[in-house]
Amino acid sequence: MKTHEIALIPGDGIGLDVTDAAADILQVAAGRFGFALNYTRFPWSCDWYLKHGAMMPEDGIETLRGFDAIFLGAVGWPQTVPDAVSLHGLLLPIRKAFCQYANIRPHRLLPGVEGPLRSAGFDILCIRENTEGEYSGAGGRVHQGADNEVAVETSIFTRSGVERILRFGFEQARARRGHLTSVTKSNAQKYSMVFWDEMTERLSADYPDVTVSSMHIDAMAAKMVMQPESLDVVVASNLFGDILTDLGAAIQGGLGFAASANICPDRSAPSMFEPVHGSAPDIAGQNIANPVAAIWSGAMMLEHLGETQAAAAVLAAIEAVTGRGIGIKPGGHGTDVITAAIKAELEAQDAA
Ligand code: IPM
Ligand code: MN
Repeated sequence: MKTHEIALIPGDGIGLDVTDAAADILQVAAGRFGFALNYTRFPWSCDWYLKHGAMMPEDGIETLRGFDAIFLGAVGWPQTVPDAVSLHGLLLPIRKAFCQYANIRPHRLLPGVEGPLRSAGFDILCIRENTEGEYSGAGGRVHQGADNEVAVETSIFTRSGVERILRFGFEQARARRGHLTSVTKSNAQKYSMVFWDEMTERLSADYPDVTVSSMHIDAMAAKMVMQPESLDVVVASNLFGDILTDLGAAIQGGLGFAASANICPDRSAPSMFEPVHGSAPDIAGQNIANPVAAIWSGAMMLEHLGETQAAAAVLAAIEAVTGRGIGIKPGGHGTDVITAAIKAELEAQDAA
């Protein structure tokens, strides 16, 4: 039997609630489709930081490298560890070290879910650059606390980095409805964003079957609200993609539905799957977190592992359950109730 080795990093807050839910569902899918998921759990988190002075061991990245995929819940517990410390100690280094340069985030309404918009017919795939740009971590501070204090944080856009994410976007568009929207702010940022626009234009020659538009981030934010149905694949830099995908989450009914995959496309290192939402300390451990985003992210993991049928079955089970009105409203059903319903649905598909 084929066994996939999965590193589970529940992390902090509701990361713990939703990781257990997703791991459970994926295990049911594995049983049904004749493969095995072997989970190894890593308690790396803000709690771990308080005991060890780091978010993960020094050889954490090397430990993870041996896995087929990583499933992560959420990182952050600002009451004890500043976010900039916890995120730069765990989540962001994994994305960078494993060259997970394509962060894929689907935005569409699941059956039964009512978003805030009039338009229900949108199906957007956001592709966020995930390793450089505004998140490069290049910068510094001087004269801290003094009147002449200076903070500098430089965005870095490399030709190879921009080219690979744009090509990834073109390929995704080709496999979907054939339209790519590239998002920049080249009217104001005259070096990096003009460069990104030029690369988009240049590469478009290699994808004659894909129609391309370039938009500015501000106009894009409005379009996602006013005409989301006009969008297919959207590609953006790290920070712009981060912001647009919270907007995407909002129009799809909330962060409880927003799934994501951090993909290393050449498969030289493991990819990582995680819901878009954070650790939500205010609702952690109360059995009220919506596990749908995490379970959907798990389906994306199965897809990446080549378990296409199992991935489709998990997604179909989620859709059947939300279609029956379960898990569609914040606080409506408990994490355990939603998880049990999706599990029962998966098992029932089997009998059908
Ligand atoms: C996300 C999150 C992270 C990001 C934070 C927690 C650093 O907001 O995955 O969207 O900005 O990438
Ligand atoms: Mn975000």
